[in-house]
Amino acid sequence: MKKGYFGDYGGQFVPELLMPPLLELEQAMDTIMVSKEFQDEFAALLKECVGRPSALTFCPNLSHDIGVNLWLKREDLNHTGAHKINNTLGQALLAKKMGKKMLLTETGAGMNGVATATAAAMMDMGCKVYMGAVDVERQSLNVRRMELLGAEVVAVESGTRTLKDAINEALRCWISTQETTHYCFGTAAGPHPFPLLVRELQAVVGREARMQYVERNGALPDVVCACVGGGSNAIGAFHAFVPDESVQLVGVEAAGTGEPGCFNSAPLNLGTDGVLHGTKSKLLQTDDGQIMPSHSVAAGLDYPGVGPEHAALQAAGRAIYGSVNDEQALNAFKTLSRREGIIPALESSHAVAWVLENADKLQGKNVLVNLSGRGDKDMDIVEHVLDQGE
Ligand SMILES: Cc1ncc(COP(=O)(O)O)c(C=O)c1O
Repeated sequence: MKKGYFGDYGGQFVPELLMPPLLELEQAMDTIMVSKEFQDEFAALLKECVGRPSALTFCPNLSHDIGVNLWLKREDLNHTGAHKINNTLGQALLAKKMGKKMLLTETGAGMNGVATATAAAMMDMGCKVYMGAVDVERQSLNVRRMELLGAEVVAVESGTRTLKDAINEALRCWISTQETTHYCFGTAAGPHPFPLLVRELQAVVGREARMQYVERNGALPDVVCACVGGGSNAIGAFHAFVPDESVQLVGVEAAGTGEPGCFNSAPLNLGTDGVLHGTKSKLLQTDDGQIMPSHSVAAGLDYPGVGPEHAALQAAGRAIYGSVNDEQALNAFKTLSRREGIIPALESSHAVAWVLENADKLQGKNVLVNLSGRGDKDMDIVEHVLDQGE
């Protein structure tokens, strides 16, 4: 495989000025990150600060309702409320050892921003977070959390004022601050080495889930399912299962309003090959290569591109990618809350919704869903739906 590629996807399509920090990061991965000292320190942080291993939870009520054995890998129980903390703590530790003083990042739902601000506080580093102005509004609780943790939050007013635009601004900022700053990229997309780095830092999710599931059931699950924005929680959950051919890997993208011709965030289902944020992958684009606006009720899924490893897994037929619309995700949010006492993030609700929507085809199967985060941050958005149900 060509360096930095997954099959035909990946690479480093960046301006020349971004090559030095990417090469510096690649070198740090090859030297610092592989060392026993780093791995031991990272494992201790995950145990003592994140709360790993996260639980594996069986859902008895919902399983009974739908005729599918539903298991959840509980990344929602992590410190700061989502899987993002695994990645940010790993990158912050690496950056500290590289001698960097600042963490720079982008955020959609705000969970990566909160997780990066938390890691910066822990490592005694500065932190700057770029966030689309639309997301600043719809995830205002997380903005307040980031500021309390000591981060500077910059609202991005360009483009659709969501995650894509926040990444553009953060990459621009990195060019001029690379000496002192590490770009703590929040998902398994972007130029090499980020898709590989983030995958390695999130792979703990699938490793734990595989071990816990086998220990409990004496066999592997039939399906491993996770929502896909940029793709970090899904690739983390999938990685340990890739060699297990009997396990069906299912990524779930956001179909937005679900109406024909509407905005969505489902590049693996509806996109074509192209380059965005330094990587070749599937994207939502016009015939002449303009990036199309994306939409999802889940801010963390609202991205017109996707990590290259997912495009490669799809092309190889090793994973399939479904999609779920806003209404179906909101229904799953409500159903999991009422039936199991677990309020999922709207992003994670897409993965649960895929199981609910496909229950007839999954009868009697054992399905493991990576519950990437908790839904406290989404209460304002879903309030009216809950009201309707009363
Ligand atoms: C809880 C949660 N799940 C999933 C995602 C989507 O990101 P990724 O596809 O990188 O896991 C986000 C992004 O903010 C998130 O906050």
